[in-house]
Amino acid sequence: MSKNKIVIDPVTRIEGHLRIEVEVDEDNVVTEAWASGQLFRGIEIILKGRDPRDIGLIAQRICGVCTNVHYRASISAVEDAYSITIPKNAEIIRNLVTLALFVQDHIIHYYHLHSLDFVDITSALQADCAKAVTMAQLYHENPYRNSEGHLESVKEKLGSFVKAGRLGLFSNGYWGHETYRLSPEENLVHMNHYLEALRIQHDISKAIAIFAGKTPHPQNLVVGGVTSVADMLNPQRLNDFMFIIKEVREFLERAYIPDIKMVVKAYGESIQRGEGRGSGNFLCCGGYRLPNKNQLFEGGVITGHDFDAVEAFDPEKITEEASRAWYESDKPCSPYDQDSTPFYTDLNEDGTLKSEGKYSWVKAPRYEGKVMEVGPVARMIVGAVKNSPVIKPYMDRFMSETGMKLIDFSSSVGRNAARAIEAQICCDYLFDFMSELIENIKYYDETTWTKYVFEEMPKTTKGAGIFEVPRGILSHFVRIEEAKVANYQVVAPTTWNASPKDATGQRGPYEEALIGVKLSDPSRPLEVLRVVHSFDPCLACAVHVIDTKGRELSHYKIQTVCSV
Ligand code: CA
Ligand code: NI
Repeated sequence: MSKNKIVIDPVTRIEGHLRIEVEVDEDNVVTEAWASGQLFRGIEIILKGRDPRDIGLIAQRICGVCTNVHYRASISAVEDAYSITIPKNAEIIRNLVTLALFVQDHIIHYYHLHSLDFVDITSALQADCAKAVTMAQLYHENPYRNSEGHLESVKEKLGSFVKAGRLGLFSNGYWGHETYRLSPEENLVHMNHYLEALRIQHDISKAIAIFAGKTPHPQNLVVGGVTSVADMLNPQRLNDFMFIIKEVREFLERAYIPDIKMVVKAYGESIQRGEGRGSGNFLCCGGYRLPNKNQLFEGGVITGHDFDAVEAFDPEKITEEASRAWYESDKPCSPYDQDSTPFYTDLNEDGTLKSEGKYSWVKAPRYEGKVMEVGPVARMIVGAVKNSPVIKPYMDRFMSETGMKLIDFSSSVGRNAARAIEAQICCDYLFDFMSELIENIKYYDETTWTKYVFEEMPKTTKGAGIFEVPRGILSHFVRIEEAKVANYQVVAPTTWNASPKDATGQRGPYEEALIGVKLSDPSRPLEVLRVVHSFDPCLACAVHVIDTKGRELSHYKIQTVCSV
């Protein structure tokens, strides 16, 4: 049987540098896959020997997108090590910022990084705007910015790009690919919201900066609490935050959710085939305490799509290993004791990844030795299965309106549905968090910091900051000796999902999800991108020196390399 290899390097419209190689048989069905993180940055090493109070500001530089969540997890790891409980107000302010980030991240991911795998811009130019207006009303009674005149102006704008022969940021699409399924009108409605989403995500940054000082790379967290004292006590600033969130809620209800329903319907056949389905192992830690004592997210572990058996999450069961990753230490061990000394080994002579041996800068995290998928899909499935009073009603409503079943979420399109539902949940519950904050302030609880004396803190200790963040479970582990950081380890969501194979040969989630995917045209591997993008890769987070050995610089300039 002849096998061909398709190489995509770099995968674009993601954060960071990812290389995907797939092997296809004579029917162009994927039979093996390798996901390789192509960037090593060594932030974990930089953190060694630092004062534990300083590391949050450095750790947040792991990524330029997920800055807030690394900041928070890092500060929380130190608080855990020192057994410091932060005041209620500080926790709420942290939650307001983190959940606003969830919403912003999901909107950017869907519209700006992923939707063009489903939406064909060139087809939108054929749309009948009057028909598009009515079509959009099938998915919401009052669709977002849906007048015929406005749609005409969107069409004109897109048309001017094409006429000028410069699609700019749209130039690297597989336009006209035979697996695009939306009608010209549906494509136009999506492109309208693509442009609107640019403004919306910008507004959310403004909301986040009200408490965080700035974004990305916020400034408002310290060990023990937050510094946003004056912001919290200024009603105008609280009001400004909620004003933006209300506008965002409109966008989610009238654009994002209806657009996802449209994709679920048009790509129903892809869902039925389970395109992009992985091993069915899902992991989430839960979190974000609500005023009524419920949690926004439930923790739980599901294996092999067995929705009747959810196990409780236990952080002690997390290990990392690097038998197939470019690090010295191969043995699975607790993240507290993990080592990140790089050990680069060469590629094959033709520049492709080694089928055996090391091939990625991403390590392989495992839970009880098992590979795990993390992210909105894990959270929504676990929440539904555990009858979460928060998540279940949203999931039930979406499933009854679309006919989707729980298993259907475990697919490329399904991950997008789960992410959209989650964006809506996070946005709606921001109102609850804000009410709780106002309620506290009203009763003269203005505390935002728990006083502690650094010199009195244990000199030798350890702690973890473990959170659900937009792309899945994020954990920071710090070991402190002589009041300095002795070891620091991060296991980010993309470390889980972009994981390479391990010593036992288990594939990582991207790799597993690619097996069985059929390509209609191997020179335009759009189906591979659909699968990989559906995970919302953030490679900067997953690996922390660009490899210059054995690779030509020109390689990075090529958008898609197909060596069939
Ligand atoms: Ca790590
Ligand atoms: Ni990131």
